[in-house]
Amino acid sequence: MIKKIPNFEYGVIWEDTVSGHKIGCLDISKQEDVEKLMQNKKAILAVQDPPYNVDINDEFGNLPLEQYIIWSEKWVDNTIDILDKNSSLYVWLGADIRDVLQPLPDFIIMMRNKPVRIRNFITMRNQRGYGTQKNWMAIRQELLYYIKGEPIFNVQAEYTDIPKKTKGYYKEVNGKVTENFERSKSLTIRAGNVWHDIQQVFYLMHENIEGCFAQKPLKSAKRIIEASSNKGDIVVDFFGHSGSTLLQAELSKRKCYTMDIDPTYCKIMAARLLHFRRTGETGWGRTKILKDGKILVNDEQLLGAPTLLDLV
Ligand SMILES: C[S@@+](CC[C@H](N)C(=O)[O-])C[C@H]1O[C@@H](n2cnc3c(N)ncnc32)[C@H](O)[C@@H]1O
Repeated sequence: MIKKIPNFEYGVIWEDTVSGHKIGCLDISKQEDVEKLMQNKKAILAVQDPPYNVDINDEFGNLPLEQYIIWSEKWVDNTIDILDKNSSLYVWLGADIRDVLQPLPDFIIMMRNKPVRIRNFITMRNQRGYGTQKNWMAIRQELLYYIKGEPIFNVQAEYTDIPKKTKGYYKEVNGKVTENFERSKSLTIRAGNVWHDIQQVFYLMHENIEGCFAQKPLKSAKRIIEASSNKGDIVVDFFGHSGSTLLQAELSKRKCYTMDIDPTYCKIMAARLLHFRRTGETGWGRTKILKDGKILVNDEQLLGAPTLLDLV
């Protein structure tokens, strides 16, 4: 049984004894930090969601573009080094309409020289957006999908819950005229590379972590993890933040090695995982758990009662 969430500070790595996850308060741009977390293990999948070089809530400064790309190159190299010879790399990134659409195109060009191949370019459509009456509402989230070698792709993870509607495509198969529903592998549509079936996280959702401004939904983490890894595999997310990849790895029975440079987010990740094990809840919904950089949930609340795992 886990007794205590560590007080994260730079350099601390917490190893989860239940499912084999790791959370490190580390810097992805430093090769030695990444090696310290990985301990010579290779990952089958990396899901990276770096700051987009846009100033959000005064959390991140806006670097000159050239410096941002030099910094990106460091973390990309460090990631590729710890990827298995057959593996996948997903990168969430944005294009700032108010600033020459940086850094997405510049990042894509930088990636052309790296020992990975682009495999797809996915757009996730947010339901809610930032809009004015004078411009198209900004609702897109870009996701680059690169591969190293010949990784697995579990296509069943791509099927959505949306029923196929359009009938009436007839084709003759073995002398018999068939309608498209008879020929399809599934009654629901594939997500394809435009995902419009995922609600972005907001305060009414259970999985919400109030105070995490850049939280990715568990549903997108699930789609990526289940398409590009198998049970028991190591997946990494080196910009952990709210711990969506970590929690989904737990739900999908993968091991997640994650880090964040900020100790507060490391603690949130550990707290979210333990809170889930104890209560089955994927977040705290509207309850504020972060104030002035301090986490308001204490270890006793998280660790005092038996976890769901203790109960089964
Ligand atoms: C855009 S957020 C990631 C959001 C995450 N995917 C989620 O669903 O919650 C970026 C995170 O990267 C962290 N970060 C920034 N620079 C870093 C670095 N050099 N090494 C590790 N983490 C870093 C920030 O503290 C922040 O929590």
